[in-house]
Amino acid sequence: MTRPPETFTTERLVARRPRVEDAEAVFAAYAADPEVTRYLAWRYYTEIEPLREFLRGAVRTWETGEGDHYPWMLGLRGTDTPIGSVGVGLGPHGAMLGYVLGRAHWGQGLMTEAVRYVAAWALAQPPLYRVWAFCDAANSASVRVMEKAGLKREGLLRRWHVCPTIGPEPRDCLIYAKVR
Ligand SMILES: CC(C)(COP(=O)(O)OP(=O)(O)OC[C@H]1O[C@@H](n2cnc3c(N)ncnc32)[C@H](O)[C@@H]1OP(=O)(O)O)[C@@H](O)C(=O)NCCC(=O)NCCS
Repeated sequence: MTRPPETFTTERLVARRPRVEDAEAVFAAYAADPEVTRYLAWRYYTEIEPLREFLRGAVRTWETGEGDHYPWMLGLRGTDTPIGSVGVGLGPHGAMLGYVLGRAHWGQGLMTEAVRYVAAWALAQPPLYRVWAFCDAANSASVRVMEKAGLKREGLLRRWHVCPTIGPEPRDCLIYAKVR
């Protein structure tokens, strides 16, 4: 199975493997912020320990190659402090993207930079023909990121996912993809 690069850089960002010691910075930058997690599949964290547990799992994935979802920590170039994360879930023929950024850094085109890089990396891997992502139908900023990264809208998945920050009912999603 294809393995993603352990680090990469874009014009303004540096991406690296997560560490358990990132928990405090991740908590402070985005994971405890209900505005950030509003449309995500996980609820904002209120304690550090569950976040450490999540990061332990991410470290294991990178170490063992088991599990198919590889997350990177994103920081501004020249720094080591996480301000967000982008991840890729690898299937036999395609890759699914996910991403999150601390509110202090929204609206500067940063996530578009990261998503463009990961999408291009995925489509350069011989087994992978498709890069895709979905977002809550109300998540206009995420829609723009996918569009700016060259993904095209494929459809509306009705009642597809739950956003625990909002409530227990499944919500509508938009699905986007780029293929080669
Ligand atoms: C989605 C997210 C990663 C975008 O990151 P970002 O670095 O701010 O994205 P960019 O600056 O590259 O692009 C954001 C675009 O959305 C637009 N946008 C931002 N907020 C918006 C809103 N409330 N309504 C409509 N458009 C909005 C911006 O204007 C920009 O588009 P433009 O370049 O055409 O002006 C960030 O908002 C985030 O982390 N949100 C919470 C987590 C999340 O929802 N992740 C995605 C899950 S699918």
